[in-house]
Amino acid sequence: MNSSKVIAIDGYASSGKSTLAKMLSRHYRIPFIDSGALYRGVTLFVLEKGFLKDNELDTKAFSSALNGLSLSIEPETGDLHLNGKNVSQKIRLPLVSDHVSIVASLSVVRDFLLHQQRQMANECGLVMDGRDIGTVVFPNADHKFFFTARAEVRAKRRYQELKSQGQDTTLEKVWNNLTHRDKIDSSRKVAPLRKADDAIEIDTSEVTTKQVFANLVEKIDAK
Ligand code: DC
Repeated sequence: MNSSKVIAIDGYASSGKSTLAKMLSRHYRIPFIDSGALYRGVTLFVLEKGFLKDNELDTKAFSSALNGLSLSIEPETGDLHLNGKNVSQKIRLPLVSDHVSIVASLSVVRDFLLHQQRQMANECGLVMDGRDIGTVVFPNADHKFFFTARAEVRAKRRYQELKSQGQDTTLEKVWNNLTHRDKIDSSRKVAPLRKADDAIEIDTSEVTTKQVFANLVEKIDAK
């Protein structure tokens, strides 16, 4: 594959997008951007500044604070920096997971991040995962995939991941968060989660990471 390609991976929460995107990034030597981390970073900023009250964003205060919001992803590690501070662990906390879909449904937030995401695709190409990458951010991406998996499989995976990071949670809480986010992400007015017409659907419920990787590489190289 020519190295200046854009690979878009969209799909449901914890369907394996980031794991596979990282593997493709290493394989094709192109940067990987986890766009969900950017939405989580904005959510952390909003929560820390107290701009969200009863799930309502103070749009005026948020918009005027945008000048003071800088987000960057370290290419080597994928760590997210918010105004120079590494917040990679903080953005995975339940408080952020519980509010991120509300914040991500706002057009002022999406407009702000759309611009940043497009700027990240320079001459080396990239692999980006998210919810609207193949439909809105890079509608002309060279390769588009849409990941799905049964909700119980996704919840179990996410639960195990959080436990291994030492987070105090239950399978039920994780399940509720995932299904609630899927609902908000799929039904919002701006850039909802949906499969692009030209995306290839990948169901990761019953296959290993290795099998999915081989499948993706075969499809990318065949194009
Ligand atoms: O990929 P993730 O589960 O960490 O993403 C967190 C949330 O961010 C997700 O529930 C919806 C939002 N998001 C989005 O709206 N658009 C994207 N391109 C990526 C994430």
